[in-house]
Amino acid sequence: MRLDVVSIFPDYLAPLDLSLIGKARRDGIIDVRVHDLRDFTHDRHRTVDDTPYGGGAGMVMKPQPWSEALTHVLGSADEASGPAPILVVPGPGGQRFDQARARELAEAPWLAFACGRYEGIDERVYEWAAERMEVRVLSLGDYVLNGGEVAVLAMTEAIVRLLPGVVGNAESLVEESHEGGLLEYPIYTKPSAWTDAAGVTREVPEVLLGGNHEAIATWRHEQRLARTAARRPDLLAAAATAQGPDGLSVLDHAVATPADAGEILTLQKACRLEMVAEPQHWSGAPAETVDDVRADLASWTTHTFRSEGRLVASVRVRRDPVDPSTWQIGRLMVVPDLQGRGLERALLERAEALGPADITRYRLSTGADQQPLLRMSKKAGYRTAGPGEGPGTVDLTKRRAAPPSSR
Ligand code: ADE
Repeated sequence: MRLDVVSIFPDYLAPLDLSLIGKARRDGIIDVRVHDLRDFTHDRHRTVDDTPYGGGAGMVMKPQPWSEALTHVLGSADEASGPAPILVVPGPGGQRFDQARARELAEAPWLAFACGRYEGIDERVYEWAAERMEVRVLSLGDYVLNGGEVAVLAMTEAIVRLLPGVVGNAESLVEESHEGGLLEYPIYTKPSAWTDAAGVTREVPEVLLGGNHEAIATWRHEQRLARTAARRPDLLAAAATAQGPDGLSVLDHAVATPADAGEILTLQKACRLEMVAEPQHWSGAPAETVDDVRADLASWTTHTFRSEGRLVASVRVRRDPVDPSTWQIGRLMVVPDLQGRGLERALLERAEALGPADITRYRLSTGADQQPLLRMSKKAGYRTAGPGEGPGTVDLTKRRAAPPSSR
């Protein structure tokens, strides 16, 4: 994997030479190239920032050094790297960087990181870059760092350790926090009874000493659930969905009423923002209002799924008014933080199952540019039928499998 990092503090990235990441570099698993943004300035002071238009505190990074630095990075493409990297811009205003994102980015042959400083980078750099490569703005968490360098260290470590050959024991990648959406179970080593300086003795849980692997696996799973419930209850809905289609059943299901229109619109906007963050998924469709959503609730049956009261997913269904043997499915939406964990497929299967017995065909409408949803529905047996009713939408159809014949 190729990794390029552009920063005004190249020395900040020195830890990439240490430990397992340094070894991966020496073993040729990763090729890390760090670039000094100031090398792409042309004035005596090597200026990279200026005051913000419209006023306000702090300084903004200028577009010119960034476009030249990124052009330099793009110009070093080779056969192994592919034509362009995915450009990651760490920032507190980005999508959450989590284990699922790390796994996704570990698949890319080439990643470039743009480390912002000060108040951030001139917005036109994002537009410029998005015309040349995929751009992801990613945040480590809901707090503000002074710049992107520390975030790059954290993200590269999370990504690179997933590459084959970096972590010696591949099994240790499976049984750890956030894999499967749960926190890790407690771990112990020898001695089985440890006495501290105050004379207090603590024992290792009995089940771990007995060698009954099934009992150990059950105990560990229970510990992961208990620990996740205690420390990160927000992960539980996500974890449930990660367990497969049954994940949907842990959510509270209801049919939407006009009172839900505001929340459904918020969910639509969240899904839309998710697409803006990934410009290639942006459909450019006009924004809807609460009244539009309310009107749609009258002509469709919209199903909502909630976790602890929060609307996390919804889908709408109805019998096709023109062809009554067709079951229409649309507006399949999952909140961005739970996307890509199997919930979309479960939602689609639930929507299909809601079709009455005489239905022979499903028709799914989605944004023509919603690549993950299109991929998922094709895996579920759907084929593109043609442009949909709304602007920028596409219709996919699937024949309903005949029920097992009754004897
Ligand atoms: N840069 C500044 N704050 C950040 C954060 N929370 N995550 C990633 N990059 C950042």
